[in-house]
Amino acid sequence: MTITTIIEPFKIKAVEPLRMTTRPERQGILAQAGYNLFGVRAEHVLIDLLTDSGTSAMSAAQWAGILDGDESYAGARSFYRFERVVKELTGFKHIIPTHQGRAAEKILFAIVGGAGKLIPSNSHFDTTRANIEVSGAEAVDLPVKEALTPSLVQDFKGNMNITGLERLLKQKGREQVPLVMMTVTNNSCAGQPVSMGCIRRVSELCRSYRIPFFIDACRFAENAWFIKTREPGCKGRSVKQLAQEMFSYADGCTMSGKKDGLVNIGGFLAVNDDDLAQQARNILIVTEGFPTYGGLAGRDLEAFAQGLEEVLDEDYLRYRIRSVAYVVDKLDAMGVPVFKPAGGHAVYLDAAAFLPHIPPRHLPGQALACALYLEGGIRACEIGSVMFGRTDPAGGQFQPAPMELVRLAIPRRVYTQSHMDYVVECIGELFSRRDGIRGMRIVAEPPLLRHFTAVFEPL
Ligand code: F0G
Repeated sequence: MTITTIIEPFKIKAVEPLRMTTRPERQGILAQAGYNLFGVRAEHVLIDLLTDSGTSAMSAAQWAGILDGDESYAGARSFYRFERVVKELTGFKHIIPTHQGRAAEKILFAIVGGAGKLIPSNSHFDTTRANIEVSGAEAVDLPVKEALTPSLVQDFKGNMNITGLERLLKQKGREQVPLVMMTVTNNSCAGQPVSMGCIRRVSELCRSYRIPFFIDACRFAENAWFIKTREPGCKGRSVKQLAQEMFSYADGCTMSGKKDGLVNIGGFLAVNDDDLAQQARNILIVTEGFPTYGGLAGRDLEAFAQGLEEVLDEDYLRYRIRSVAYVVDKLDAMGVPVFKPAGGHAVYLDAAAFLPHIPPRHLPGQALACALYLEGGIRACEIGSVMFGRTDPAGGQFQPAPMELVRLAIPRRVYTQSHMDYVVECIGELFSRRDGIRGMRIVAEPPLLRHFTAVFEPL
């Protein structure tokens, strides 16, 4: 008999204690945080699934790199190692380190954005959208329609609607569309992967219009694993080769190393165009730092370079993707409405189906996320009408998001299977008592990225 159990392919060298709170304590903590889980102190959270960003456990080799980092202001050895690793992976000519992904976005869209411009993507993540909007440009999401049906099982629900893109490019041309973006995996569409075929076709379309094509590469390795395991003809190739092919179709990328870089901080902008690179470095020096460190310490660059090599380990990726699917399969078997198939970095509960008695304007995702914290000290993140909906400041019109999801993002190499069993049990318990969960309303909100700081109250 062959052994089929997939284990965590690491052993644990340093541990961090977790502390349980009581339900009455959590009740008080929630109220004090204005029912916004971003306002809860991490020490009051038992299992923190708010994000997979910057929350990875680093390896012994990465920690060794931290000590070995070269902290020279200019031309540090750690930069050159980082540059070599990123160039080998992506093939791009200019590698510009930034302190995290959104800093790369900010620089890119400060150059190519601006009033009257449109930036299409399969789906922009919230910081990308915000950086585009801050520049005066418009962020356009073009997901495939299958992405909007959580229960539909399909291989590449993260893909871009290519017909929609073609129509947009035909109408607006390169005068109004300075760049096309592709987010892999598609975080705003439940971490669903994008196929190599789709990346290739979008690249060809962009080239025919002479419009640069960029990849938002935060989760490139997870995406490449899905391509390897799902796309015809890819099984025999290494994840690294597939990642290299993905990048070969693009003219540049933004990357948050806090995801598949397996580091707690770091990012980069990579481009082929010399003029764009020059403009980006000029902004970088003003806002981030000298081009050979760009907002990071030498030790961060060292750990980042090491992380980018480790993340391509296929035993790691098999375990990583399976550990997310494990939770989705268990929830699905219990009848809990969950986005299918499992994505790369997170489990997404379908709050609209979980709480059908709460209409979108009463924020079912926020209600479910708060209930989950109250139930088990688990912190998740609403990705629905709080994050992507709009409320007219005059108090009238409410515009819902296309889906009401609650994301349980799984930090890399941090939690074990029994932590996940606990999460599944808490969600099951909540599901059996779902009729008692009430909606919420927003009491106060900032003008941009409201989900981070809005204040809520239960209805
Ligand atoms: N692009 C995508 C697809 C992301 O998921 C994120 C961050 C960013 C860009 C920005 O990178 O945080 O390093 O500035 N996503 C995190 C999340 C915050 O929780 O999904 P950053």
